[in-house]
Amino acid sequence: MKFFIDTANLAQIKEAHDLGILDGVTTNPSLMAKEGIKGDDAVMKHYLTICELVDGGDVSAEVLSTNVDEIIEEGKKLAAIHPSIVVKVPMIKDGVKALKWFSDNGIKTNCTLVFSAGQAILAAKAGANYVSPFIGRIDDSNWDGVELIKQIAQIYKIQGYKTEILAASIRSPLHIVKCAEAGSDVVTSPLEPILGLLKHPLTDIGLAKFLEDAKKMRAELAGAK
Ligand code: E4P
Repeated sequence: MKFFIDTANLAQIKEAHDLGILDGVTTNPSLMAKEGIKGDDAVMKHYLTICELVDGGDVSAEVLSTNVDEIIEEGKKLAAIHPSIVVKVPMIKDGVKALKWFSDNGIKTNCTLVFSAGQAILAAKAGANYVSPFIGRIDDSNWDGVELIKQIAQIYKIQGYKTEILAASIRSPLHIVKCAEAGSDVVTSPLEPILGLLKHPLTDIGLAKFLEDAKKMRAELAGAK
C-alpha cells in the first residue's frame, strides 16, 4: 500500500518524506487555505514546491471549476506545473466527463469526494487513475468507511478495473491499518495518524530495558579493567 500525506504544510510533508515512507501528497482547497496560500500564482508556486520536495511522488492538485470545459482548462494548467501533478476532479457529472477527457489525453487524475460504490464504478469507467473514498466523513455520518473500501476493492477486482483505491479522510492509525486490510492501494493521511503507527508502549518499555541492561554490562566491563 502506498502512503500519501494529506496536507499542504511543507514542514509536515518534509517530515513524512524524511521518514522514507512517503509516496505522494494530496491537497484540497481547504488544506491550501489552511496554509494561507492565496491567489492562482501562489497556489501554482506552492504545488511546484511540493512536487520538488517529494521528488517523483504523485501530488494531487484539485480543480475549482465545476463545468467540463473549465475543468479541462484548469486541469491542463495544473498538469503543466510538474510531471508529478495528478489532477483532482470532483465526482459530479461534468467531473466524470472531464475524467474521461483527461484519461484519453494522458493526464493523471484523482476522482475526489467519493462516498459510494456506484460513484467508484463511474470513476473507474471514466478512466480515473485514483478514486478517493472519504472514509472519515462516512464514519462521521454513522456509516462504515472501511466497509466501503472493502466493497470497492471487491468490485474493482471482479471487474478488472485498473483505478487505484486511495482511502482519504483518515482520522487515526487504526484507519490506516483497516484500509490496508480492506485492500486499499493507497492511503492519504495527515501526519499524526502516520506517526501514530510507530507507537506501542511495549516497544518503549522493551527499549528502555535493553538500553538499561546494555549500560549495566558496559559499566561492569569498565569496572573490571
Ligand atoms: C483527500 O484527498 C481529501 O481531501 C481529504 O482526505 C479530506 O479529509 P477530511 O475529511 O479530513 O477533510
